[in-house]
Amino acid sequence: MCGIVGYVGSDEAGNFLLDGLRRLEYRGYDSAGVAIHCGAEFTITRSVGRIDSLAGALGDVMPSGSLGLGHTRWATHGPASMENAHPHLGGDGEVVLVHNGVIENFQVLKEGLIKKGYTFVSATDSEVIAHLVADELKHAPETNGQPNLRYLAAVRAAVAQLRGTYGLAIAFRDHPNFLIAARFGSPLVIGVGSGEYFVASDASPLVGRTERIVYLADHQLAVLTPDGFSVLHRDQGKVRVDIRPLETDSGEASLEGFDHYMLKEIYEQPESIRNAMRGRLDDENATAVFGGLNLTPQQLRSVERIILTGCGTSWHSALVGEYMIEDLARIPVSVEYASELRYRNPPIDNNTLIFGITQSGETADTLAALKETKRKGHRTLAICNVVGSSIAQAADGGVYLHAGPEIGVASTKAYTSQCCVLAMLSLYFGRLRHVSFESGQRIINELRQLPAAVQQALACDEQVRDVAKKYQDASTVLYLGRQYNFPTALEGALKLKEISYIHAEGYPAAEMKHGPIALVDEHTPSVFIIPRGTTYDKVMANMEEVKARGGPVIALASRDNPEVESIADDVIHVPEVPGFTQPIVNVVPLQLLSYHIALLRGCDVDKPRNLAKSVTVE
Ligand code: F6R
Repeated sequence: MCGIVGYVGSDEAGNFLLDGLRRLEYRGYDSAGVAIHCGAEFTITRSVGRIDSLAGALGDVMPSGSLGLGHTRWATHGPASMENAHPHLGGDGEVVLVHNGVIENFQVLKEGLIKKGYTFVSATDSEVIAHLVADELKHAPETNGQPNLRYLAAVRAAVAQLRGTYGLAIAFRDHPNFLIAARFGSPLVIGVGSGEYFVASDASPLVGRTERIVYLADHQLAVLTPDGFSVLHRDQGKVRVDIRPLETDSGEASLEGFDHYMLKEIYEQPESIRNAMRGRLDDENATAVFGGLNLTPQQLRSVERIILTGCGTSWHSALVGEYMIEDLARIPVSVEYASELRYRNPPIDNNTLIFGITQSGETADTLAALKETKRKGHRTLAICNVVGSSIAQAADGGVYLHAGPEIGVASTKAYTSQCCVLAMLSLYFGRLRHVSFESGQRIINELRQLPAAVQQALACDEQVRDVAKKYQDASTVLYLGRQYNFPTALEGALKLKEISYIHAEGYPAAEMKHGPIALVDEHTPSVFIIPRGTTYDKVMANMEEVKARGGPVIALASRDNPEVESIADDVIHVPEVPGFTQPIVNVVPLQLLSYHIALLRGCDVDKPRNLAKSVTVE
C-alpha cells in the first residue's frame, strides 16, 4: 500500500526520493509524487501510474534541493488522479505532507476547515491533515530561535484531533531545514546517516544509504534536521529509542536473471525453507528450538488451545497449521480471519496462545486482532517475515521466517516458510506432550527432506507451462483437495485469481457435490490435488464425477500412478511426501500454474491490479 520517503541533509534529496519510491513499488500503488524544497518554496511533481511516469514528469534535470518528501498512493478516498496524488499542501502552501493510513473523522474535520476558509483540491483524507497543521500553526506560540518547536506544537495539536491511522512526513516552506514524522498505526522508520536523515514507511529505501535504523512506535513523533534527530511521545517529552543495525536483506532484491520477482521467489523456495529451519532442528532432543518465543517450556506445556489468525495467504497457512498442530501435537486449534477476530469478541479460555501469521508484519487487521487479544491478557506471538515490523514489535514474542524480501505481490515463498515454521512448532508442542523421541526424529528427518522435495516439484515447470497454454482462456477454475491439501486448494485458487483475474474457487473435494459441481462443464477445468493416502479413493471418486459431467481434469499426483493418468486430462507430477509436508510441496506447481497463465494472458504478474503488498488499512 502507500509508501513514504523523506530526506533532509546536504545531498540532493531527489536522488534518494526517486530511488526510494522505486524500492517501495512492490507495496502496490496507483499514483506517486515528490516535493523538493528548491529555495523559496517546494517544487511538487505528481503522476498517475508507475514511478516511470513520475521520473518522466521530473525530466532529465531533477529539481535541486536537500529537503524533500515522496509518496506512492494506493487509492482509498478518491480515485487515482493528479489531484489526489501526494504530497498535499496545507494553508497557503506553507505545509507539505505525505500520509499513509486512513483518517476516519476526516469529513467532520474537513467541514470545520471549510468553514474557516480553507479550500480543498483533492478528495483525500490526507489533505485535511495538511490544512489542519496549517491551521494549528496560526495558534502555535512563537519559540524564539527554535522554529521547529513551534511547528512541532502545531503537528502535535493536529494529530491529536485525528481518529484513524497515520504515518506522516511533514515539511514546511518557510523552514526548509527540518522534517517532522508522526506515527499511529501506520509504520514509519528513521534512517540515521551522518549529516543526513531519512524517513520511510519501511526499511527498503534505506538499504545502501545507511546502516542504522529506528522503528517509530505508535504515538511517537520525530524531528529530523541535518544535524540530528529526536523522538518524542505525542503527549509527553522526549523518548529514548534504540538505533538498530539495518538488516542487509531489508529490501535489496534484484531479479537475478528471472523475468519476474514472483518466479524468482517461487524458485527460491528450497533455500527459503532451508533458512526457515536453519538452527531450529534439535537432533539431540528430537524437537525444534525457537529463540524468540519468550515463554518458558512450562508455560508452553500448559497451553490448552491455540488460535491462529491472519489474512489471505497467511490465513491459508493458518489452516495448514491447524491440521499440523492438531495432528502432531494434539492441541485444539481454531483459525480466525484477523478482520473478524478483531471485532467478534469470542470467549477465549485461559491458557490460549494466539499466533498472528503475516509476511509483511504490517497487515492492519492482523495487528489489530493481536492487540485486542493481548489487551485481554492473552499471550500473543507472531510468525512474521519482516524484522522489526509493527506486528513483530507488538507481539510478546515470535518466530521470524527468514525468507528474505518478498517483492512479488502474490505471496509464495513466505507461505511455504510459514507452513514450515508451523510444522516445526507442531513438533515442538508435540514433544512437550505425547510425541516420542523416535517420532520426533522421524518428523525431523521428514522436514529435512523438504528442500529437496520442493526442488523436485519445481521440475514440473515445463509440464505446467503446457497445461497453462491449454487452459489460459478458462473463465472459472475449481481447485479441490482434502485434509492437508484442502488449504492448498484454497491457496491455488487465490494465486490464480490474484494474478490472472480468472475466477477460481477452492473446496474440500467432497464438498463439490454440495453445490460447486453445478459449475462443471466442458469449459470449467478442475484441479485435483490427489496424493496417495487415506482419502485417495474418495478423491478419485470425485474426479470421476467431474469427468462424468464433461469437466476437464488436471491432477497433481505422483509419477507412477496409472489410475490417475487414465482419468485426468492432464497430470502434473509431484514428489510423494508425508501428509504434513504435502502442503509445502504441492503448492509449488499451483504457484507456477498461476504464474504461467497470468503471463500468457498478458497480466502484470508482480503488480496485479488493485492489490497491495502490505495491507495497512482495514
Ligand atoms: C496473497 C497475498 C495476500 C496476503 C495478505 C496478508 O498472495 O499476498 O493475501 O497474504 O494480504 O498479508 P501478510 O501476510 O503480509 O499479513
